[in-house]
Amino acid sequence: MDSFLIEGGVPLHGEVQISGSKNAVLPILAATLLTAETCVIRRVPDLSDVDFMVKILRSLGAEVTAAEGMLTIRCGAIRGFGDYDLIRKMRGSICILGPLLARLGQATVSLPGGCVIGTRPIDLHLKGLEALGAKITVDGGYLRCDTPKLQGNLVFLGGRAGPTVLGTANILMAATLAEGVTVIESAACEPEVVDLANFLISMGAKIQGVGSPTITVTGVRELHGAEHEVIPDRIEAGTFACAAAATCGEVTLRGARLDHLGAVLEKLREAGVGLDRTQGALTIRGHRGLRPVDVTTMPYSGFPTDMQAQLMALLCLAPGTSILTERIFESRFMHAAELMRLGADISIEGPSAIVKGGRPLTGAPVMASDLRASAALVIAGLCARNTTQVHRIYHLDRGYERMEAKLSKLGARISRVPGE
Ligand code: UD1
Repeated sequence: MDSFLIEGGVPLHGEVQISGSKNAVLPILAATLLTAETCVIRRVPDLSDVDFMVKILRSLGAEVTAAEGMLTIRCGAIRGFGDYDLIRKMRGSICILGPLLARLGQATVSLPGGCVIGTRPIDLHLKGLEALGAKITVDGGYLRCDTPKLQGNLVFLGGRAGPTVLGTANILMAATLAEGVTVIESAACEPEVVDLANFLISMGAKIQGVGSPTITVTGVRELHGAEHEVIPDRIEAGTFACAAAATCGEVTLRGARLDHLGAVLEKLREAGVGLDRTQGALTIRGHRGLRPVDVTTMPYSGFPTDMQAQLMALLCLAPGTSILTERIFESRFMHAAELMRLGADISIEGPSAIVKGGRPLTGAPVMASDLRASAALVIAGLCARNTTQVHRIYHLDRGYERMEAKLSKLGARISRVPGE
């Protein structure tokens, strides 16, 4: 397994181009299963999760050709039986269920995996598909869904921690080809759901209310091929913003959608980070004298759980006490113990991490436990004295396009050590 070697202490300087969004592209790729016609998807990030999704589509019979940042996909004759091991490895693969069921009336997939960030049930996905008329059984690790024809219905998708992002994507896709009208209540409002809906609309779907908690879908007989450009990754943008701030550097984010970054930028501003907007770009100016902040993760447009770890790394440098409360996923604090190896002072009390910031960080070998935890360790390594080795960066490769190349271009001393 590859690792990163980081020589900390270099302020990042320069410009970084933000890639296409991982969380938007995965359901969009799944949506191509809804039509037998050709779809062209642009601004596709080069990530191992995208490779996985392409493998899954091919295993279902799709023809996929790849060019720089673009995928051309034709799901002509497809089958509804997903490869057990491929699907098991990636959480995002659950969103093939809705489109397969809508197109074929039948889908069999293994229960999905993904980052180890607490229990990640799929009860809301299944409840939603059942409301549309699917019969669901579990047998031998496989989930089997059948329906003669999906029927529109009222689907309530609110869970213990609020709406479900991929659950909304799944039901939205299934409803596009269902008979009649589907109303999704307590739908996720994340920009990635809006991007998926825009792609579905360009395929001929009838959808209203996207970006709000109530989405109305009027089923159509069939969808056609379409072209789509994926939105920029707001979490990658937020990660580079934290890295720039933590190293006291000055970095301009190119291509980021600032309207998707409201809660993140607000917390950075509160922490004393300089932010300048110029002609669609955002420049982050880090300096000493960071302030502690309190933050609670929430569904969009609240502070994203996918930025909690990176903000924690930054707050380790802010003198005083910051409290980060995780409301979306329990046990999403595995990075805290690793940050402590670098000298951070963090204690976990229930759903909150209490960070006593301002102590200098010193390099050490650390272990990445999930995608965003890996990013937090890289940020901490970039500002720690001496060398930090971040092991198991395959987590990071799932969701960050060429991160070490982008950081090196900004002046970071970072290199990939190939694993044995
Ligand atoms: C997506 C994102 C992930 C992000 C998360 C929350 C992708 C590929 N992943 O994951 O990066 O961290 O949204 O913004 O887009 N829940 C249930 N039952 C369900 C489904 C979810 O109880 O059937 C709960 C979860 O345990 C969690 C909460 O709902 O507490 C939100 O999870 P959800 O929005 O579904 O996360 P994902 O869509 O899997």
